[in-house]
Amino acid sequence: MDPHPAPMLSVITDEGLATFTPEQLRSMRDEFQQFVLQYQFGLREIETKLGILRDEFQLTHDYNPIEHVSSRVKSADSLVDKVLRKGVAGDFESVRANITDIAGVRVTCSFVKDAYRLFDLLAAQDDITVLEVKDYIATPKRNGYKSLHAILAVPVFLSTGRVAVTVEVQFRTIAMDFWASLEHKIYYKYAGIVPDGLVAELKDAADSAALLDARMERLHDELHGSRATPLPPAPGRLSAV
Ligand code: GTP
Ligand code: MG
Repeated sequence: MDPHPAPMLSVITDEGLATFTPEQLRSMRDEFQQFVLQYQFGLREIETKLGILRDEFQLTHDYNPIEHVSSRVKSADSLVDKVLRKGVAGDFESVRANITDIAGVRVTCSFVKDAYRLFDLLAAQDDITVLEVKDYIATPKRNGYKSLHAILAVPVFLSTGRVAVTVEVQFRTIAMDFWASLEHKIYYKYAGIVPDGLVAELKDAADSAALLDARMERLHDELHGSRATPLPPAPGRLSAV
């Protein structure tokens, strides 16, 4: 008999008590790290593409359509929450196929037309596959939320070969971003049950933000005249989605 038996870890699952050896736990951890790493690589690919577009615009048109880019890989906790909420099976393949916002990039632009044009330019790149588009700028959510959401697949080249990584990219203006971050805080403060008065005020604020966007874009166009739309037509794809 082994005088030093390997310690076992027991976990309560839906199917009852599951027991793992340290080796099993280590291999699960490694598999999870590998899974997350692919999404981090996917983010880097998209960030690089956006950085190249920004620098090229700055250099050739003396114009920067991007105010800010932020990105994140979903935390393990919120991934598990979403898997449970959506009733997705817990294996990596199912999670990969059904949860499309594990990697997320948010692109904050100066003007609405920049949001569409950046989407067009990314979508037209021949290594990018557009899996889904939700245009909440053209059709805002009932609460007033606006942004252009795109689920993209981008190739990542690993030592084992090419993998397509799904990344959710949200394009919005500074005003839309300002509104969305406050609305998010309010939504969480009230645990999703926001008082009617506040809902109405938020919708009103979203309308004001949209008016401000339109006004700033018009002023910008007046100020720059023909230079106001320096972005060339995106090859092969239209912004209408
Ligand atoms: P989930 O991805 O499960 O949330 O559902 P979905 O795929 O229908 O979501 P959707 O594409 O509409 O939105 C995904 C993301 O957009 C969210 O995780 C938020 O970052 C953002 N978002 C969507 N709706 C709202 C909203 O009403 N308020 C704010 N602040 N953000 C929103
Ligand atoms: Mg989503």
